[in-house]
Amino acid sequence: MAEINLLNFYPKTDRPIDERGKMITEEVRAIARQYGREFFDGDRMYGYGGYRYDGRWVPIVKRIAEHYRLAGDAAILDVGCAKGFMLHDFRGLMPGATLAGLDVSDYAIEHAMPSVRDCLTVGCASELPYPDKSFDLVLSINTVHNLPADRCRKALREIMRVTRGAAFVTVDAWRTEQERQRLLKWILTAHTYMSTEAWKTFFAQGGYTGDYYWFIA
Ligand SMILES: C[S@@+](CC[C@H](N)C(=O)[O-])C[C@H]1O[C@@H](n2cnc3c(N)ncnc32)[C@H](O)[C@@H]1O
Repeated sequence: MAEINLLNFYPKTDRPIDERGKMITEEVRAIARQYGREFFDGDRMYGYGGYRYDGRWVPIVKRIAEHYRLAGDAAILDVGCAKGFMLHDFRGLMPGATLAGLDVSDYAIEHAMPSVRDCLTVGCASELPYPDKSFDLVLSINTVHNLPADRCRKALREIMRVTRGAAFVTVDAWRTEQERQRLLKWILTAHTYMSTEAWKTFFAQGGYTGDYYWFIA
């Protein structure tokens, strides 16, 4: 179990935290949490704001593959794969890999990258439809925190069950009071968020022994 930033090549953007904090109401959150068209392709207030494939995962998947020394025919699962952008870039890097993606959103899977659509499944992170030890690496980027704490813990257990090798998750967190205040304004869909220290305890108590890093607003 290691704290490691495998997303350090992810593009840095200025987050208009105060502006977003004023716009996000419980009604906006309820719409975002449907993970439908509004979340993926609607106004930025509801989620991604129509983020299109732009190759941003290319250096990240290279870093991940090198870090875990993945063989060319490795089996990789992305829990919360959205439209499959990251898996598409794994496909480009490792054409012999067995890829799988799961997301709760019918909309995302219907509108996923054609190159990986066949490997994607609609489902919930807390009940992964794969046998034990199916994957060399299970990734889950900014997804399991969208579940309430008990189901988030279950999702982490499921990740441990289906991996036979590595696991890496990122979750909403803060290290300081200032970061906590910023995150509380930024949060749109997450139900489970806490300090990095509290997450480490949460992982240990739930039996999650994979690697992890943080989304800090
Ligand atoms: C912030 S997005 C992250 C997507 C992608 N991993 C990325 O980093 O771009 C969160 C994703 O989690 C999915 N999601 C939310 N709750 C989920 C659940 N219970 N099980 C599986 N996926 C879920 C959403 O549909 C969405 O695609």
